[in-house]
Amino acid sequence: MNTTRERRFPDKFLWGAATSAHQVEGGNTHNDWWRFEQQPGVIRGGRGSGEACRHHERFAEDFALAAADGHGAHRLSLEWSRLEPRRGHFDAAAVAHYHEVLGALRRLGMTPIVTLHHFTNPLWIADAGGWESRDTIDRFAEFATFCAREFGGEVDWWCTVNEPEVFAFRGWSEGIWPPAVRDNSRALGVIAHQLEAHGRAYHAIHEADRLDADGDGHAALVGFAKHHVQLEALRPWHPLDRLVAHFERRVFNEAVEQATVTGRIDLAIPGARPVRRDVPGLKGALDWFGLNYYTRWRVKSLAREPHVATPGAPLNDLGWEVWPEGFRRALHSAARAGKPVLVTENGFADAGDTLRPRALFEFAEAMHRAIAEGVPVAGYLHWSLLDNFEWADGWHGRFGLYGVDPADPRGPRRRTRSAEVLARLARANALTPEVEEAAGRVALGARRD
Ligand code: GAL
Repeated sequence: MNTTRERRFPDKFLWGAATSAHQVEGGNTHNDWWRFEQQPGVIRGGRGSGEACRHHERFAEDFALAAADGHGAHRLSLEWSRLEPRRGHFDAAAVAHYHEVLGALRRLGMTPIVTLHHFTNPLWIADAGGWESRDTIDRFAEFATFCAREFGGEVDWWCTVNEPEVFAFRGWSEGIWPPAVRDNSRALGVIAHQLEAHGRAYHAIHEADRLDADGDGHAALVGFAKHHVQLEALRPWHPLDRLVAHFERRVFNEAVEQATVTGRIDLAIPGARPVRRDVPGLKGALDWFGLNYYTRWRVKSLAREPHVATPGAPLNDLGWEVWPEGFRRALHSAARAGKPVLVTENGFADAGDTLRPRALFEFAEAMHRAIAEGVPVAGYLHWSLLDNFEWADGWHGRFGLYGVDPADPRGPRRRTRSAEVLARLARANALTPEVEEAAGRVALGARRD
């Protein structure tokens, strides 16, 4: 294929980066993650979120870096525990802070894409049963209403929940995130509650946000972010590998992707209590589909390590396979929700920034191909603008277009070559020879790591 010919992206395509509050802000002491991090042994390397990137103070400077790189959009999350530290009590200083944050983005000409739940919960939510309690659905819908009313004049793109399936499996099945439960039945219940909460928030936001922030005729565009993982048998001839991969694909990808299409929650895993119910108001409760895509796992049944990377494939620093074709396929799956797809996350942990520039280029090519095949992609938000606190992996996964030293969050942000690749893509809104020049010409498939 001719990789030097210019290949354009659609007009008004949103290019930018994504972050989440707890991972970058620092000092989020009123949520369940902060409390969890204080326990010995739960965070790789032992360093918790702490001051993180001090983005709570440095947001204007960080956004200026993104704007200078041609980003026209930025995904961020509002920290529920800051805004509502006690039930029904909204903190005026936190509200003012997020107005400043959103104002800073608007002044720089960047469209904010605002997530309302990115894994963290106020302590009062966690202590009242968290996402296992149906009351949390009501509390979240109230929070969404508050945010839509308060920030609707600055925000049109709303992302209700981030990755219900990752949130639930890490916290309630693998037990490596709070509340550290290991029970698949309870995990399924949590996914269901998050999907219901999405449906409720969808209507609440449309009700409360009547202000069109950028004059394009839409006061509110509401979606959620789904983490799509390619799951395939490690040994294609092995019936059990294939069966397990099939079940995992169904529960992890398909059931969540189809929930707003059918209005039905249908979650099942062998050995766990299934959750099957029709949810009033969920059908059609979606204006755009948020796709978070990173990797493919090979399923190895009856093994101690049930998911492994494809042998010989290029890997990121966390051992995740880097496979552009998987991204193209994930975009096609996302399109089955029948709505425009916004890539709410895609990135590569690469502390040395060695594989990432080329990976970014090849993922952009894969996305371009998907668009040419008919997938309506609205934008691409790279994970992440800054190196940040990677949950249980601590500071091991370095995803930042800008490097941050966690020991010196007041220090300089270090621009990477990947930042330049994305900047060239964003400015040209096309795959040009200049983009490929910044990315390097050695194909990922030709690498031997
Ligand atoms: C996603 C998550 C992000 C970030 C990313 C990279 O699952 O939404 O918060 O951690 O993975 O690991």
